[in-house]
This record gives sequence, structure tokens and C-alpha cells, in this order.
Amino acid sequence: MRMRFKPYARPELLACDFHAHTPLENKGRWKSLFARPQQPMHLELGCGKGGFLARLAVAHPQINYLGIDITDKVLILAKRNIDKQYAAAHIPPDNVKIMSLDIERIDNAFSPQDQVERIYINFCNPWNVKASHKKHRLTHPRQLILYRDFLADGGEIYFKTDDSDLFEDSLTYFQAAGFTVRWLTRDLHAQEPDWNIRTEHEAMFTEQGIPTKALIAVKGPLDEAGREYCRLYDRLVEAPLRRAAAQKAEQEAQARKAAQKKNK
Ligand SMILES: C[S@@+](CC[C@H](N)C(=O)[O-])C[C@H]1O[C@@H](n2cnc3c(N)ncnc32)[C@H](O)[C@@H]1O
Repeated sequence: MRMRFKPYARPELLACDFHAHTPLENKGRWKSLFARPQQPMHLELGCGKGGFLARLAVAHPQINYLGIDITDKVLILAKRNIDKQYAAAHIPPDNVKIMSLDIERIDNAFSPQDQVERIYINFCNPWNVKASHKKHRLTHPRQLILYRDFLADGGEIYFKTDDSDLFEDSLTYFQAAGFTVRWLTRDLHAQEPDWNIRTEHEAMFTEQGIPTKALIAVKGPLDEAGREYCRLYDRLVEAPLRRAAAQKAEQEAQARKAAQKKNK
């Protein structure tokens, strides 16, 4: 999502009661910031324009929701969407919060005291186009072990994507990080569950004829060796594959060059 700097975004967010101005200071006490702290807390990672979060939070006042995205210029759209949905429903936005944070550093803002019951990750390809390595994916094992620290035992991750490679790789990622995939589909809209809320990107990809892949993963046990494997996953599993692919491409390029020389 490439967007221009929006000078009005910061002041408007700072004036917004449901915007968390200083996320790192709330580490370990997120629940206490909501009007009903005893309620379960669910996160949306990469909430984008916030259409999904706004509709979900209005429909479930008995859950506290926190939406996270990388910059104010995206978050301001989520803020306005949330304002609109709550105004239409004539209820106060007291079970929702938003904040900007780089999710790759989410461990700076959450601790085991925060006990999140569910995480939503929707259509989250890496926000940084230069970050082409798989380790920047929000479902990568090195991310999943960060979420594990504040996700309750038996807590769930709901994941949706248009990207087949990301989806198939994520099945392996979840398993490596001690999650059990309890439900999955490679075409969510073929038999759309009544709990599904379509996100902005889901609507866009659906219009392009790209099926939405979705899964629900449940947190199970993971020992220290499993955690270490997740931390080193890029080095142990993906870097060797990248090297092999680069080597193969180099060999193919050399073979093509040699064939061209021969044909001259
Ligand atoms: C393709 S958009 C999807 C937005 C929304 N979830 C939807 O489905 O319409 C991906 C969003 O994830 C956010 N995102 C990706 N990686 C992130 C990261 N490391 N930290 C914070 N936000 C991130 C991007 O800024 C962007 O808003």
C-alpha cells in the first residue's frame, strides 16, 4: 500500500481516544486500557484501512480489539472507518484501539501479561518492497514465536491471503512454531462461513478472480529446541534454498550465453 505523507494524520490520531499514542509504554497492560478490561483481547496485524476491524469490533462489543499497522498514513484511514461504523451503530468505540508499530518488533510492545486470545492476519505481504526475503512475512516462524509469548494457550490465529505460495509456506511455518491448523480452505468464498468479514484486499482480489486462502491455527506446546529452530529458520531452511536457486539461475544464464555464442 504506497501512500503519500498525510500531514493531518498525526494530529488527528493524537486527538483520537482509541488511538494508542505510546504503544511501547503499554507493554504488559493493554487490557487495562479498555473500558471493560476483563474481556478477551483480539489483535489484527496489518489492519490497513480498517474496514474489517471496524465491522468486527462493532459486531462484538464483548471482545476488545487492537488493530496494528505500520504508519499513520494508513492508520488514519482505519481511524476514520472506525468512527464511521460506530457512529452508524450509535455506540461508543470503547472496545477498539489502533496503533502504529512495525510488527516485526511486536515483542517491544507486548509481554506474556497481555494474554491475547486471537490474532487476525489478513493479506499481509511484507509492507517493505525491498524486504523480499520470506523472513519478513508476518506468518514466518520467527514472527510466530514472538506472537506465542503473548498469545494465550489454545489461542488462535486466523489467516487469510490471496497468495498461494505464502499460504502453502505458512502451513509449514505454523507447524514448525507449534501450532495445529484446525481448519483450512483454498477457496473461502466457495462456501463462505457466516463469520467471515471481507477485507478491502479480499474484495479487490475477489473481483480479480483470485480465490482467498484461509486457515485457523491453534497454539500448542513448543519446547526450547523448537523455538531455536524458529529463530534460525531463515538460516537453516530458506537461505540454503535461496543459494541453490541463485546457483541454478547462474548456471542457466551461462548455458544460454554459451548456446548463443555457438549459434553465432
Ligand atoms: C496488503 S495490506 C492488507 C490490509 C488489510 N489487512 C486488508 O486485508 O485489506 C497489508 C497491510 O499490512 C501492513 N503491514 C505489513 N507488514 C507490516 C509490518 N511489519 N508492520 C506493520 N504493518 C505491516 C501494511 O502496512 C498494509 O497496511
